[in-house]
Amino acid sequence: MFRVLVEAPVIDEAIRRVADEINRDLKDEKPLFIVILNGAFMFAADLLKQVTAEGTEVSFIKVASYAGLSSSGHVENLIGLKEDITGRTVVVVEDMVDSGQSMVHLIGMLNAKQPKRICIAAMFCKPKALTVPLDVDYCALELENDFVVGRGLDYDGWGRNFPDLYILDEN
Ligand code: IMP
Ligand code: MG
Repeated sequence: MFRVLVEAPVIDEAIRRVADEINRDLKDEKPLFIVILNGAFMFAADLLKQVTAEGTEVSFIKVASYAGLSSSGHVENLIGLKEDITGRTVVVVEDMVDSGQSMVHLIGMLNAKQPKRICIAAMFCKPKALTVPLDVDYCALELENDFVVGRGLDYDGWGRNFPDLYILDEN
């Protein structure tokens, strides 16, 4: 039902590139990485092992969920954000930016807490699926508008642990 779209080493290399960019851009920023659970857990682990910025902190939050094959874009609440982000450089770590709706809502909620700056780091983006204006500062790999699983992304709970990225095979 699913076939491999991107093999693990290609994703690893793309994440390495993002880590280099972040290390270059944010080395003096004491960045706070906010990882969006559940989907970003694997990306966060791969990325953050390679982040060298002094004073880096990592926090995890949960937002509303995604059911089935299409995104609801409904972000209800930031569950679990204990850090005071006022005046801080925040990097939101997300598995996938699809329509961009979830990210825009999330950024709005975080901005209300008056951080110095918010950057977005996404493992995957689907630029053609964006329905809102959104700049993704760091995107490891751009994809077409296909539903994918693996590497933390799931299909109703299935496929999250796969190291490669799979695409739904219609045939
Ligand atoms: P957006 O609000 O449309 O940008 O949706 C973003 C969220 O939907 C991501 O955080 C993912 O959890 C989920 N999502 C989007 N596309 C896919 C996909 O192809 N596979 C699995 N989850 C996806
Ligand atoms: Mg998600």
